[in-house]
Amino acid sequence: MAQQVRGVVAPGRGEPVRIETIIVPDPGPGEAVVRVQACGVCHTDLHYREGGINDEFPFLLGHEAAGVVESVGEGVTEVAPGDFVVLNWRAVCGQCRACLRGRPWYCFNTHNAAQKMTLEDGTELSPALGIGAFADKTLVAAGQCTKVDPAAKAEVAGLLGCGVMAGLGAAINTGNVGRGDSVAVIGCGGVGAAAVLGARLAGASKIIAIDLDERKLATASSLGATHTIHAEGADVVESVQELTGGFGADVVIDAVGRPETYKQAFYARDLAGTVVLVGVPTPEMRLELPLLDVFGRGGSLKSSWYGDCLPSRDFPMLIDLYLQGRLDLDAFVSETIALDGVEAAFEKMHHGDVLRSVVVF
Ligand SMILES: NC(=O)c1ccc[n+]([C@@H]2O[C@H](COP(=O)([O-])OP(=O)(O)OC[C@H]3O[C@@H](n4cnc5c(N)ncnc54)[C@H](O)[C@@H]3O)[C@@H](O)[C@H]2O)c1
Ligand SMILES: [Zn+2]
Ligand SMILES: [Zn+2]
Repeated sequence: MAQQVRGVVAPGRGEPVRIETIIVPDPGPGEAVVRVQACGVCHTDLHYREGGINDEFPFLLGHEAAGVVESVGEGVTEVAPGDFVVLNWRAVCGQCRACLRGRPWYCFNTHNAAQKMTLEDGTELSPALGIGAFADKTLVAAGQCTKVDPAAKAEVAGLLGCGVMAGLGAAINTGNVGRGDSVAVIGCGGVGAAAVLGARLAGASKIIAIDLDERKLATASSLGATHTIHAEGADVVESVQELTGGFGADVVIDAVGRPETYKQAFYARDLAGTVVLVGVPTPEMRLELPLLDVFGRGGSLKSSWYGDCLPSRDFPMLIDLYLQGRLDLDAFVSETIALDGVEAAFEKMHHGDVLRSVVVF
C-alpha cells in the first residue's frame, strides 16, 4: 500500500523549501523503497530550488543519502529488504553505447524509478537527481541502491552518493593521479576537499590546496594538502609553479568551475599535464584561450561527471577504506540537522560555513 511520509519540497523558483506530506507508492518491477537514515545538503539541491537545473517544479530535494531497503518490487535481485545502501544517480543500463564498450561510468541511459511520488493532491514530484531523499522514505530504481558495509555511519556513507564521490573520483578516476604526482586543487569546498583526500589516497607526493577562505585551506591541510595558497591577491599560476620546481603540477583539478579558475588550472599544470574540471559552470560562461597554447602545452583536458565513478565498484571499496581508518570521511560532516533545517543549511552553505550539513532521520 502507498505510504504517506514527510519530504522537503521546493514548490517554485527561488521559493523557500517546505516540509510536505508525500505519497510513496509500493515498489513496482525493478524498484525499491528505501527508509532514509541520512541525507547531505548539496549545492545541487539549491540549484534545483533556484530553477537552475530545470523548471519541473515541484522538486523533492535531497540526493546524498544512505538508508535501509524496506521493500523491493518484482524481479529485483541485487538488493533485499534490510540491506544498508548508499543511493546513487548512476544506475547503469548495461545496454547503451558506453556500457556496451565497457565504460559504464559514462552510461548515457541511467535508471530511475518508473513510478512517481506525489503530493497528497496527486501532483507529481520531480525527485532531485532521480533520488529525492530529504524524505523519511523514497522510491528509486533498485540499481540506485549500492550495498555497503552497515558498520559505516549513515551520515558519512551517504556523502559518497554525490559531492564527496565527485571530488574523490576527480582525482583517482578522471585525473588518474598516481604515486609521486604533484596535484593542485582549486576550490576546497566539499568537492575540492574530497579531491585533496583522493590525491592523497592515490599517492600524490605534493598536494596544493587553493581557496579564498582560510577555513577551507585549514580543512584541506588536515585532509592531506602539503601546501596551501590563499587565492585572493595571489598569482595562483606563479604560486603553483614556484611550489613545483617552476614547472606546474601534473594534475590540476578545478572544483570551482569558472572561466578564471579554469584558466588558472590550464596554465598551472606542467607540460603534458592534466586538467580536470569538476566544478559546474553556468550557461553564460565563456572561455577564451590561445589555441596554440592548447596544442603546445599538450596533455589532457578532462571533465569529471560524478567522479567517473561506478557505484558498485567504488562505494563498497571506499567504505571499507573508511572503516579501516584510511579515508577520513568524518571530516566532511560539519553538522547533523533535522529535516526542517534544510533551508538554514542552504544559508550556511552559501556563506561557506560548512563542508556538509547532513539531515539525520
Ligand atoms: N562534476 C560533478 O559531478 C559534480 C558533483 C557535485 C558537485 N559538483 C560541483 O562542484 C562545485 C563545488 O561544489 P562544492 O560542494 O565543493 O561547493 P562549495 O561552495 O562548498 O565550494 C566551493 C569552494 O570554492 C572556493 N572558491 C570560490 N571561488 C574561488 C576562486 N576564484 N578561487 C579559489 N577558490 C574559490 C570557495 O571559497 C569554496 O570553498 C560546484 O560547482 C558543484 O556544482 C560537481
Ligand atoms: Zn548504459
Ligand atoms: Zn550533489
